[in-house]
Amino acid sequence: MVNYTSLIIVLQQHENQPEALVRTAIWMLLPALFLCAGDARAQAANADQLEPPSLERGEELWGKCRACHTLDAKGRNIVGPRLHGVFGRRAGSLPDYRYSDAMKKSAVVWTEQTMDAYLAATQDFMPGNKMYGGLAIAQDRVDLIAWLKQATAP
Ligand code: HEC
Repeated sequence: MVNYTSLIIVLQQHENQPEALVRTAIWMLLPALFLCAGDARAQAANADQLEPPSLERGEELWGKCRACHTLDAKGRNIVGPRLHGVFGRRAGSLPDYRYSDAMKKSAVVWTEQTMDAYLAATQDFMPGNKMYGGLAIAQDRVDLIAWLKQATAP
C-alpha cells in the first residue's frame, strides 16, 4: 500500500512535469517578450545603431534637466547654470554662477561630442564636478542634444 502511494506520487510528479516545464519556459520567455515589445529606440541604442535625432523626444527628455537649468538668455541659474548659448562655450565660464573647481578648471568646450560624453557619465568625464545623473541611453542623448542645440541657440 505504501509503495502504491509513493508510485502515485511519482506518477503525479511526472504528470506535473510538462506543466512545470511550460511554466519555466514562460518565465524564461517573459523577459524576451518584454524586450521585443519594449522601446525599439533604446534597443537600437544598445546595438550602437543610432537613429536620427527626434526633436520631439528631445524636448520630452528636457524634463530631466529643467528642474536645475533654464534655457533663455536671461534665464536664472537654478541649481545648475542657465544653458543659453552653451554650445561653443567653455565649460564653467558663466561669470554669475558658482561652478565647482573641477568644471571651472577644465579645458572642455561644449560641443555635441563633449556634451554626449558628459551626459553619458558626468563624473567619469569630469571627476569632481557638481552635476550627477545624465542620460545613460545613447539614443536619448542624441535626441536631447539635437533639441538642446536649437533651444539654447543664441
Ligand atoms: C539636480 C540638478 C541637475 C540636473 C537635473 C541637471 N543638471 Fe546639469 N548641472 C547641474 C550643476 C550643479 C551643474 C554645475 C556643475 C559644476 O559646477 O561642477 C551643471 C552643469 C551642467 C552643464 C555645464 C554648463 C556650463 O556652463 O559649463 C551642462 C551642459 C549641463 N549641466 C547639462 C545638463 C543636462 C543636459 C541635463 C539633463 C539631462 C542636466 N544638466 C541635468 C545640475 C543639474
